[in-house]
Amino acid sequence: MQQHMQDKLIIFDTTLRDGEQSPGAAMTKEEKIRIARQLEKLGVDVIEAGFAAASPGDADAIHAIAKTVKNSTVCSLARANERDVRAAGEAITPAKSGRIHTFIATSPIHMEKKLRMTPDQVVENAVEAVKLALEYTDNVEFSAEDAVRSEMDFLVRIFDAVIQAGAKTLNVPDTVGYSIPVLWGERIQQLIARVPNSDKVIWSTHCHNDLGMAVANSLAAVMNGARQVECTINGLGERAGNASLEEVVMAVKTRRDVFSCDTRIDTTQIVPTSKLVSSITGYPVQPNKAVVGANAFSHESGIHQDGVLKHRETYEIMRAEDVGWGANKLTLGKLSGRNAFKTRLQELGIVLESEEVLNAAFGKFKELADKKREIFDEDLQALVSDEIISEAPEHYKLVYLQVKSETGETPHAKVTILESTKERSAEADGGGPVDASFKALESMVQSGAELLLYSVNNITSGTDAQGEVTVRLSKESRIVNGLGADTDIVIASAKAYINALNKLHSKLERAHPQV
Ligand code: KIV
Ligand code: ZN
Repeated sequence: MQQHMQDKLIIFDTTLRDGEQSPGAAMTKEEKIRIARQLEKLGVDVIEAGFAAASPGDADAIHAIAKTVKNSTVCSLARANERDVRAAGEAITPAKSGRIHTFIATSPIHMEKKLRMTPDQVVENAVEAVKLALEYTDNVEFSAEDAVRSEMDFLVRIFDAVIQAGAKTLNVPDTVGYSIPVLWGERIQQLIARVPNSDKVIWSTHCHNDLGMAVANSLAAVMNGARQVECTINGLGERAGNASLEEVVMAVKTRRDVFSCDTRIDTTQIVPTSKLVSSITGYPVQPNKAVVGANAFSHESGIHQDGVLKHRETYEIMRAEDVGWGANKLTLGKLSGRNAFKTRLQELGIVLESEEVLNAAFGKFKELADKKREIFDEDLQALVSDEIISEAPEHYKLVYLQVKSETGETPHAKVTILESTKERSAEADGGGPVDASFKALESMVQSGAELLLYSVNNITSGTDAQGEVTVRLSKESRIVNGLGADTDIVIASAKAYINALNKLHSKLERAHPQV
């Protein structure tokens, strides 16, 4: 096995590009910026912010992220053609450090059936794209799409050609999630051994999870010389997703004895990042998900509990607080003042843009403290995200909600909303109190939107915890996610529905429309 003395493993996060390709996960520009800021705080080396040529909205979001982010490289994807590369180059212009990631498929099936190009044409396009990208930045990455099903000799040929053209990072994707660790490791090892000047570039891997092996394959690549891993928060991504960042990072950190490299990730930011991505995209994290699942550090069996109490390392290989579960830390209470509130937000890295927003958030905090004895960091994060998220002007506002739910009776809801300046009320029956509330809302608003997703997560533990609800609505080829948090999940649900309606009403566009 090849041992590399280089000890830095570059973390290339593609949550905002490949992750966004998860059905229904497309985000607005503001949502993308919020995630990009958090990724920067997490310490990722490269943020793939989108695919500039995909839509003007995506190009605009990449441009905005390139302006905002200072401590991570901001990258745009581009197919190997002039239009895409120029769109990517323009989008990353404001970046302190910008990268263009250009790709073309190299497998016989993709070249013949999809591109309808000969191998010679594919090499020519790749070389031309890399040369053109160099007009915008000297940081150019090339990917051989479907490398897993490409012929080794052809991969050697195209990688050799793009190195000569000036590419600095060579990415080897398992686009269809077909490989297994031992074969993927061998493939990377052979490429590094056979491609001329392979030691002058960074070798990267990008694995999909169709057979559940994306993380294992990525780590096999690292053990065989790859020094960049492309991954996403919570493993989001096309189809079954990509390698999950949190698993890759924690595997490398926990098994330093095996991996001869390390990342610059601030692992204590992993859980907050996972929660942010989950709430914005509406993709819940399964409780038994490694590292970021709610049960990842909880011990059920008596034998395990006894062992952990006696000596934590009997059953725990990582510390919950090292990945950001320091959470559930009691933060503030009913008597805390505005200053303590502001200071704790600053400690959490949350900057509210004006005194007005701060006052509104503080008002909500006081309301919450009346309902809930203990306020945790997660409660604060949910509470201010309501303030920050209100990028959609509040055309509809919840004024009053009453639900009746009784054994043997049909659930019934009465709702009053403020539409612009006019109060309106309606009542409806439903299958449950949430269904009745949504029906009452819909009878007034008549959006005609289709409900694609409804999910509830509790923000902290305990029956007085706040529930965070995500509602995904679709109308006329637009998809929006609405969020709402409250200690009463029916109210949280109504807030989430109204937040989604406001987004639909404001015509706030998702940066990269999916439909
Ligand atoms: O899966 C894939 O091959 C990709 C490339 C664009 C890198 O996402
Ligand atoms: Zn991919």
